[in-house]
Amino acid sequence: VSTTILIRQGLVVDHQQAQQADILIKDGKIADVAPVISAFPADTQVIDASGLYVMPGGIDVHTHFNIDVGIARSSDDFYTGTRAAACGGTTSVVDHMGFGPKGCNLHHQLAVYKKYAKENAVIDYSFHGVIQHINEEILSEMASMVEEEGISSFKLYLTYGYKLDDESVLRALIQLKKVNALTTVHPENDAAIAMRREMLLEQGKTAPKYHAESRPLECEAEAIARMINLAKLAGDAPLYIVHLSNGLGLDYVRLARRNNQPVWAETCPQYLLLDDSCYERDDALKFILSPPLRPQEERDKLWQGLIDGSIDTVATDHCSFTYYDQKQRGKDNFSACPNGMPGVENRMPMLFSEGVMSKRISPSRFVELTSYLPAKLFGLYPQKGCLAKGADADLVLFDPEQQVTTTHDLLHDNTDYTPYEGMNCHGWPIMTLSRGRVVACNGEFTGRAGNGRFIRRKPFEHQK
Ligand code: URP
Ligand code: ZN
Ligand code: ZN
Ligand code: ZN
Repeated sequence: VSTTILIRQGLVVDHQQAQQADILIKDGKIADVAPVISAFPADTQVIDASGLYVMPGGIDVHTHFNIDVGIARSSDDFYTGTRAAACGGTTSVVDHMGFGPKGCNLHHQLAVYKKYAKENAVIDYSFHGVIQHINEEILSEMASMVEEEGISSFKLYLTYGYKLDDESVLRALIQLKKVNALTTVHPENDAAIAMRREMLLEQGKTAPKYHAESRPLECEAEAIARMINLAKLAGDAPLYIVHLSNGLGLDYVRLARRNNQPVWAETCPQYLLLDDSCYERDDALKFILSPPLRPQEERDKLWQGLIDGSIDTVATDHCSFTYYDQKQRGKDNFSACPNGMPGVENRMPMLFSEGVMSKRISPSRFVELTSYLPAKLFGLYPQKGCLAKGADADLVLFDPEQQVTTTHDLLHDNTDYTPYEGMNCHGWPIMTLSRGRVVACNGEFTGRAGNGRFIRRKPFEHQK
């Protein structure tokens, strides 16, 4: 097998520009990018990319593979999850370490997750630490997680079983800032949700569609505003809002940024492409996730955030449960349904189609949202997130002319549905390379379990 690959005359896109160029790959790294490369070894594998977009492989910084949520274990593990990611043009994931037993420490969590991923991942990966509770041990572990283990982001939940109170949040924010880590947050007001859930269930409103009514957008926006203020009180601790689903929350983010506060926001394809009309469908259980899908006008506000730069990343929050089995737990009681939906394979094609091909965003903005800013914020740059000389040869080739109707049959995950069934994609990823190896080609997975490597990430560095 040749270790030198030449990708010829594609439209090479980075976060700043798009231009016709050749890319030479040697030993898994980018050796050269130039308008024309004519000097290369005789046994070089030449790929004709004329008419194709050649972009940095996607980085999905929000997945939950092999996660045990108490009532169920997600249907995708690190093999099927990363296989699907690769086939969708994604070459790195930053997954969330699941909740260990109560009292579990961070280093233990990391060892468990490294074991889950090592023999299974087909593309490179890292993990976010997850703060389940705050005590002296956890606080003191944070420094070595960043410096020795390369884990430079940590997730806090304000709802679910491991929600943190305000004091714990403050202590986490202060310490994480000190050790050069980024705090990420699932912001929803737990008390408001609990009250509404009880009220709905008491009224006999138990059908799946009431999930959305149990957590309206104000529950999320309130928690976003609270987190922004707590981060300010923690001495301008850097803060990353995950899975932003609505315009009011986005306005709080904009306000903070106007005040030069270090705050970033992520949204997900489901909030850009779907809305709460899905809860009127017979298969509404497929769409139970938190935050829930919102009214249609919120979608437009999020697109505006992608266009004007106030949203920084698009990630999936892939957390899959089978519809015919696991999701059915919620059929008579929405609150018993495991939360989450699949999407790791759909992010790149859907955003390319609805963003780039529909001319809402430029190809460079697409790269910025799916790869460059994820790499910058999470300490992967410049190893990942760009096509410069010396970077890992993680690439995706898109054919802008291919029209594909999304169906679950085409996908490579281990669940039994896609929330995007029947939606048309204009443009399609036809080849994915992970460190110079072709891991997906024309809809076929060509990679191998265990070829993905754990990435030691750099400490968080404030940059805008
Ligand atoms: O409903 C969701 N999103 N489940 C996955 C966990 C989370 O909240 O991100
Ligand atoms: Zn433990
Ligand atoms: Zn969440
Ligand atoms: Zn999540």
